[in-house]
Amino acid sequence: MDDLIRQAAHRLAEGRLVAFPTETVYGLGADAENEAAIARIYAAKGRPSNHPVIVHVADGSDLEYWASHVPAQAYALIDAFWPGPLTLILPRADRVPAAVAGGQATIGLRCPAHPVAQYLLKAFTQLKGGNAGVAAPSANKFGQVSPTQAGHVLAEFAELDDDDLLVLEGGASEVGIESTIVDLSRLDSVGPVILRPGHITADDIARVLEIKAESLLPSERQSADDAGQERQSEAPRVSGSLKAHYAPRTPLHVLSRDEIFDWVGQLTQEQLPIACVVFDTLNAAEQPGVEWILVPKDPKAYARKLYALLRQLDKGGFRGLVFEQPPGEAAWRAVNDRLGRAAAAFSR
Ligand code: TXA
Ligand code: MG
Repeated sequence: MDDLIRQAAHRLAEGRLVAFPTETVYGLGADAENEAAIARIYAAKGRPSNHPVIVHVADGSDLEYWASHVPAQAYALIDAFWPGPLTLILPRADRVPAAVAGGQATIGLRCPAHPVAQYLLKAFTQLKGGNAGVAAPSANKFGQVSPTQAGHVLAEFAELDDDDLLVLEGGASEVGIESTIVDLSRLDSVGPVILRPGHITADDIARVLEIKAESLLPSERQSADDAGQERQSEAPRVSGSLKAHYAPRTPLHVLSRDEIFDWVGQLTQEQLPIACVVFDTLNAAEQPGVEWILVPKDPKAYARKLYALLRQLDKGGFRGLVFEQPPGEAAWRAVNDRLGRAAAAFSR
């Protein structure tokens, strides 16, 4: 493995693409300071070039290289959560190519905990003689489900050969959904804001910053008030925040238990087969063409399985996927966010 990782670091230095495991999802990486290499990421993903990419670093020691200003809140969060599934948005240093930030004045920074990602980042840093970063979005086509296994990445980029893309194997991702993103670039105007919920929750962040968790979630604040609207419209673009995202190809709907029960009873032959993903067996009559799948009642265990399950179901030849609505509690926020976006792709 060591040899392969060194080879991967050399590829990055040559401006080539390397997909690597992280604890959240697999990333499609390139040298963050090489504009041609970054363009290769956008081309492979089919992603609009105005969407920013996260820069992955080996540790928190050279933040000033990437960010023009690093506030005390950033250091506090790094102390608490790096390496780990947390991305910080900071004002971008001038030396960092605008291309990596989709042209925005900010930069997203994350230090992943997965040992393979750590080895790769350290090897690449050594090769560059310090201050190295790997730009990496999730290793999937734009709008599709993020990969949590090396095999998912290979399936996603089947058109690329070994020369174009090296995929490092790192097992199934522990967390299973993308990192929590905290915006610290607008502290003076709006304060710290969570742009994408994840494994590290609003409560976790609020505890470290010694603030109220609700203040981190402007979109969930009661306010239909002007300030709330303004906060939203100023917010940086986060492609993961597009309403429809993370979607399988099979139509997906999120329904309550009762709705599922009623719906299954009324299915016509043309609507079958379908898969129903539920927390407990429903007392519905056995019905040919309806497959029942049980999922964990713990939100973190659920998140770990979600994307692999979506990919598996997508290959199952189903006409539709029905997911039981998870609880509305804060612990389920990240899962509800991803499920909601997956379903939004089909709610037109
Ligand atoms: O867990 C993760 O974050 C994974 C792994 C590979 O690290 N990466 C990931 O990348 O999910 P991606 O590109 O699929 O999603 C990153 C999100 C995007 O929605 C992007 O818009 C946002 O982060 N982002 C990156 N840089 C940003 C910036 N400067 N300002 C605002 N949003 C930014
Ligand atoms: Mg993504």
